[in-house]
Amino acid sequence: MWYDTLVCNCVQTTFLGVCNMENENQKKVILSGIQPSGELTLGSYLGAIKNWVKLSDEYECYYMLADLHSITVRQNPADLRRRTLTQIAAYIACGLDPEKNTIFIQSHVPAHAELGWVLDCYTMFGELSRMTQFKDKSAKNADNINAGLFTYPALMAADILLYQADLVPVGEDQKQHVELTRNLAERFNNRYGDTFVIPEPLVSKVGAKIYSLQDPTKKMSKSEENPKGTIDLLDEPAVARKKIMSAVTDSLGIIQYDPEHQPGVSNLLTILSSLNGESIESIVERYKGKGYGDFKKEVGAAVFDFLSELQAKYKEILSSGMVEQVITEGNEKARRSAHKKLMKVKKKVG
Ligand code: AMP
Ligand code: TRP
Repeated sequence: MWYDTLVCNCVQTTFLGVCNMENENQKKVILSGIQPSGELTLGSYLGAIKNWVKLSDEYECYYMLADLHSITVRQNPADLRRRTLTQIAAYIACGLDPEKNTIFIQSHVPAHAELGWVLDCYTMFGELSRMTQFKDKSAKNADNINAGLFTYPALMAADILLYQADLVPVGEDQKQHVELTRNLAERFNNRYGDTFVIPEPLVSKVGAKIYSLQDPTKKMSKSEENPKGTIDLLDEPAVARKKIMSAVTDSLGIIQYDPEHQPGVSNLLTILSSLNGESIESIVERYKGKGYGDFKKEVGAAVFDFLSELQAKYKEILSSGMVEQVITEGNEKARRSAHKKLMKVKKKVG
C-alpha cells in the first residue's frame, strides 16, 4: 500500500485549516510539479513521478509543469518550448493517466502568478533567506541572484494552496518549501479566517533521494555537469547501462546498505529496489559473498529494461498528438479550480 512507503512528518492536515472533505466521499487533493529546466532523470522519476502514479486512484491529483519556476534560472527559449511538450509526454509515459489526473502548465493558469504576488506580501525576508535551495542556487548562479529565485518558495506555496492540496508528494529536497507553505497558510488563516488547507509533504522512504553515479554524496540532478553521473529518462538504454557499470563505488567489496560509508553501493541498492520492487534487505541477502560486477550488471539490466519500455511509450505518445489535448483540458480544469480560490483570497484581503 502507498501509505506504507511514505513518511508524513506533519500534524494532521484538516484540523489546522479548511477541510476539503465536505462530505466523506470527497477525495483528498494532491498537487505537485517539476520544472522543465532540464531533461527528466531517473531521480525525478524515482523521487517524484513514480509516486504520483500510485496516488491517482485514491486522490484528486493535479500535476503541473512548473515553468514559471524554471525561469528563475536562465533557460534557452527553444529548449523550454520543446520541453513543455516532451515533459508532459514523459509524465504520461511514466504512467500518469490523463483521465485520472489533471495535468497542466503553470504559466497557462494566471492565478499562480497572482496568488504568488499576494503571498510574497505575507512572506518574510528572513524566512526566504533560510531556504537551503536558495542558498545552493545562489552559489551556483552567482551572476544571476534575481528576485524570482529568492521569492520562488512563495510561488510554490501559491501552486499548492490554490488547489486546496492536502498532500504534496516531493523529494526530500523540497520538504522545506512545503513547511514554509504550511506556515504561510496558517499565517493567512489566522489573520483572515479559514481560507487555505494546510498541506503536508509526502516523501517516499525508498527513492526519496537518488544520488549522482559519479559523486554519490550529491543529488542526481537535471543540471549536473558530468553526464556520466546522471541517467536521463531519454538516454539510450545501452548508454544508461554503461553509466551504471562505471558508477563510483568503494574498495570495501561488500554489498550492504550503508549510505555513510558506502554511498555509491547504497545508491545502486536504492535504484534497484525502487525499480524491481524487491526490498533492499532481500537484495543484500542475495548478494552475500558476491562482488560488485554481478550486482552492477543486475542494476544495469533493470535500468535498461525500464528505459526501453518507457521510451517506446514516450515515442508513441508524442507522435499521437495527445499531449496538446491533455494540456488544453488540464489547463481548463486547473484554471476553473484556481480562479475560485484566488477570488476568495482577493475578497479576504480587501
Ligand atoms: P527537479 O528535478 O530537481 O526539478 O525535482 C523534481 C522533483 O523530483 C522534486 O520533487 C524532487 O524532489 C524530485 N527529485 C529530483 N531529483 C531527485 C533525486 N535525485 N532523487 C530523488 N528525488 C528527486
Ligand atoms: N520547486 C519544485 C522543484 O524544484 C517544483 C515545484 C514547483 C513544486 N511548484 C510546486 C513541487 C508545487 C510541488 C508542489 O522540484
